[in-house]
Amino acid sequence: GTTLKAAAERSGRYFGAAMGGDRLSDQGFLTIANREFDMMTAVNEMKPDATEPNRGQFDFRAGDAIYNWATQHGMRVRGHTLAWHAQQPRFWGSLSGSALRTAMIDHINGVMAHYRGKLYAWDVVNEAFAENGSRRGSNLQSTGNDWIEVAFRTARAADPSVKLCYNDYNIENWTYAKTQGVYAMIRDFKSRGVPVDCVGLQTHFTGGSSLPGNFQTTLSSFAALGVDVALTEADVTNASATQYAGLTQACVSVPRCVGITTWGIRDSDSWRGSENPLLFDRNSNPKAAYTSVLNALNAA
Ligand code: G3I
Repeated sequence: GTTLKAAAERSGRYFGAAMGGDRLSDQGFLTIANREFDMMTAVNEMKPDATEPNRGQFDFRAGDAIYNWATQHGMRVRGHTLAWHAQQPRFWGSLSGSALRTAMIDHINGVMAHYRGKLYAWDVVNEAFAENGSRRGSNLQSTGNDWIEVAFRTARAADPSVKLCYNDYNIENWTYAKTQGVYAMIRDFKSRGVPVDCVGLQTHFTGGSSLPGNFQTTLSSFAALGVDVALTEADVTNASATQYAGLTQACVSVPRCVGITTWGIRDSDSWRGSENPLLFDRNSNPKAAYTSVLNALNAA
């Protein structure tokens, strides 16, 4: 394949990017997105604060604009995200206990009803673990330790066809406590029939010394539990071509690693912009890391 998506599709995978609504009028971005990518994620537009600004008052305009552009250009869409400690609707801040739990359930039902049958996957729960492998403290966690499984059961009932993912960062290193914490939860969910279909590993890399072997062990270990795995928000300090090759090799070596998404396209799109962490430079030119990813995909 001579593009990221063509190379990924050779082995039945996708290659995705994230975009904000402001990119819908950015021809440079759109041209590369249309040429190279076949999966899209909204950076902020499908998050709880965006989709339900006031209780029961849903607003899908920004999310739909991205969804419509992507699908009109032959891409699929990953939904991001339904329940998270950050970017919550303001009204969640004055709720707790069963009232907050109900608000979360209502939110999942409201958003998933709108997108029912339309999305490839939902990041149902985002970033619910702390670095030490225990649950991250949050208002949602304070509603009871079962909030995550309630979110997944609610999601399955709301849209039986979409893949339901747990998504987190710093879970790429197999020997790291947080990785083990998430792994234990997924193992428990699978053993008790809690509906979880996939684990998203955000893959925001700074170091990357354990690539690709250690990362591949993480991916294959999750996959062995009976879930798909995906790299959902990849970016790497200075776009190290070696690290990008390694993370791509790790994915293509695991049959259930279904695809890779980078968090933006050009360095100018990135939340880590000063680190120039993406595959295209500010002039839309592919960088060395682009070639290393393409080659690793084509070697699969
Ligand atoms: O829209 C307002 C704008 O009106 C205002 O002028 C401006 C001033 O700061 O802020 C704008 O909102 C910002 C928003 O991005 C849109 O650009 C928020 O302040 C800013 O906090 C928000 O950051 C987003 C961040 O999530 C928030 O948690 C990033 O764009 C987004 O890339 C980032 O994405 C997260 C994933 O969802 C989860 N994993 C980590 C990843 C990177 O942090």
